[in-house]
Amino acid sequence: EKGGWSSFMAKEVAEQPDAVANTIRGRIVDGVVSIPELDQLGDDALRSIRRITVVACGTAAYAGMVSKYAIEQWARIPVEVELSHEFRYREPVIDDGTLVVSISQSGETMDTLMAVKYAREQGAKAISVCNTQGATIPRESDAAVYTHAGPEVAVASTKAFVAQITALYLFGLHLARVRGTLSEDELAAQVAELQAIPEKITTVLEQGERVGELAHWMSDTRSVLFLGRHVGYPIALEGALKLKELAYIHAEGFAAGELKHGPIALIEPGQPVFVVVPSPRGSAALHPKVVSNIQEIRARGARVIAIAEAGDAAVLPFADEVIRIPLAGPLFEPLLAVVPLQIFAMELSQAKGLDVDQPRNLAKSVTVE
Ligand code: F6R
Repeated sequence: EKGGWSSFMAKEVAEQPDAVANTIRGRIVDGVVSIPELDQLGDDALRSIRRITVVACGTAAYAGMVSKYAIEQWARIPVEVELSHEFRYREPVIDDGTLVVSISQSGETMDTLMAVKYAREQGAKAISVCNTQGATIPRESDAAVYTHAGPEVAVASTKAFVAQITALYLFGLHLARVRGTLSEDELAAQVAELQAIPEKITTVLEQGERVGELAHWMSDTRSVLFLGRHVGYPIALEGALKLKELAYIHAEGFAAGELKHGPIALIEPGQPVFVVVPSPRGSAALHPKVVSNIQEIRARGARVIAIAEAGDAAVLPFADEVIRIPLAGPLFEPLLAVVPLQIFAMELSQAKGLDVDQPRNLAKSVTVE
């Protein structure tokens, strides 16, 4: 039940620190990541895979895109992320060196289920990242790594998304350990970053009121753009998806590096643009690039709302609003930066008097094609 919350979504957004902590629980023992559910696959199988194909839809696919950066960096395995419905109709190249990882909150998404079945018929092993015990997709897979976000009632996915990224990061660290691609110290540093996330999400949630005020000021906005790079890119896509589905506002997410290749033509005076800014410490190469993107769009009149690390002063002269997230390793920023975007979409929906939990035309689980 909703408890004291105005909506299931508000409750589920607030539950995100627990969703992450519960997904980690039992999978980090004495600082070492180990996912017992993968034992049935065997470490030899994990050592012999040559590539990973992630299949998912919607928000779950964005969790997959975030995890690509981490898994490739940590385990040095190529990862491709595909929308399930695109994957299954194009005779994808799959063999017994391919590990298919599906991501689904409900575990019932028809296109994702069919993608998994197809891949297994081609000889691939399939792992399901799922939030619903005993659902069809985990049953049709070789192993299931459950997210423990708890039941998600609001149609728009929030706590399941952060739990999916958490489970995929644990999987990436498990692979890195088994394959010996990270030193013990490197592994320990990443594990510590992950364990610190629940508390940091709590810090981000404390700014909810300010983000809500921003949404209320912007309630007559007709279009919002979202920019990000690296792991911030799928977060930009997710911010745009949340705003479309909850507030029925035209929204698009772009990789910031694409601006000059087209999207900058959309910038006109007053256009709101959210920018996910990478850490100046952790992403020293990317940070100045994103700051210069901000300058470019600001010079054309954009209204910039930056989501930036605490203490990052470089954004201050150019951003109209700055929403702060705590310091975290570069790969961990998505788990923090997504939270204000969820709250923004939720509050804007409420400001327009819409039903945040049950947006029009959408269903919680898409069991038809
Ligand atoms: C967006 C949203 C959807 C789902 C997608 C996949 O807020 O909830 O995009 O993420 O329909 O659903 P699952 O994860 O159940 O396969």
